[in-house]
Amino acid sequence: MEIPTLDKFPRRVLAQIDIQTAFLVSRLVVAAERLQVFRALQGTPMTADAIGKALGIHKYYLRPFLTALVSLGLLRKTGDRYRNTAFAGKYFMRERSIYWTRQFSAECVERYEGLCALERTLSSGKRYDAITGRRRPPYTEQMKRNQRQAEDFTQMLFHLHQGDAAALAGYLDLTGHRAVLDACGGSGVMSIALAKRNPHLRACILDIAPVCQIAAGNVKRAGLSRRIATAVGDARQPFPAGYDVVLFCDIGPVTARHLRNAYRSLPPGGVVVLVDRYFTDDGTKPLDRLASFFTHGGFGLATRSEMVELVKSCGFEKVRAKSVFKDVWFITGTKPTP
Ligand SMILES: C[S@@+](CC[C@H](N)C(=O)[O-])C[C@H]1O[C@@H](n2cnc3c(N)ncnc32)[C@H](O)[C@@H]1O
Repeated sequence: MEIPTLDKFPRRVLAQIDIQTAFLVSRLVVAAERLQVFRALQGTPMTADAIGKALGIHKYYLRPFLTALVSLGLLRKTGDRYRNTAFAGKYFMRERSIYWTRQFSAECVERYEGLCALERTLSSGKRYDAITGRRRPPYTEQMKRNQRQAEDFTQMLFHLHQGDAAALAGYLDLTGHRAVLDACGGSGVMSIALAKRNPHLRACILDIAPVCQIAAGNVKRAGLSRRIATAVGDARQPFPAGYDVVLFCDIGPVTARHLRNAYRSLPPGGVVVLVDRYFTDDGTKPLDRLASFFTHGGFGLATRSEMVELVKSCGFEKVRAKSVFKDVWFITGTKPTP
């Protein structure tokens, strides 16, 4: 999946945006996504009035809003009709699913709320939701209460992780292994890629119930229901035995507790695999993760060297870190044989 980083925008557009007001135009783009402007216009040029009616935009703001999107190079106006530019069609339609459109834009809005309290966050050391009093339940609880949210979040990641899943399947040599426990496995994107690449392999996606339901659908559509199971469970509790690979992909901070769970459940020679966008050792990259730390806080700040040391400290040997796909790191370790 390609994302519309600023270098992909025309220079004439970027030249109008200064860094301190960038959040304003960024928020307009998020609003366009929330209202699904680009989806409405894909292949269907529309007049301003028709857009306003279809998407519920008040006439006071309608034309300035559409004009701002034209100015940003996202819409083009021909006669009295607006259409997506090639740029918007590529990055806001073809490169992203409806799940990404809904989920990511909702997360962006939450972060904008958090930014309002940034100075207080910095001075108090508290999370922004504690400061604003708008405490939300953990995202897993929200997904348990709202199946649509579970679907948006899980299927957003299903599309997002296609590239690193294929890269992981190409990187790991699993010829000598039989079964993968995909801990916090979400949509099953990783298990599906590994099972496709290794016809002898079984896998089990461990996650909360609503997510397992969605994963089972993805597995079925991939024609892999006989080799990939789902299991409702809690990754903080001991893992089931019978797996010689334990995978943690994009689960937030992987803790010593997770790794000890994996160690205990694996047979000698078993492998633990961590997949995430770990920070460079100086902590400066990935910049988007660093910035989101201040309003989201869900990812942690672990560097790949720190993760390597943590994996070693939990008893694994032959610990290796490798970047194979963009800024995603694969860290592997083996449980020693006596
Ligand atoms: C960011 S998603 C990543 C999913 C998947 N590994 C992937 O790479 O697409 C994290 C997943 O962990 C699950 N999760 C979080 N805490 C969990 C827990 N304690 N036990 C089981 N699953 C958990 C969530 O429901 C979610 O599906």
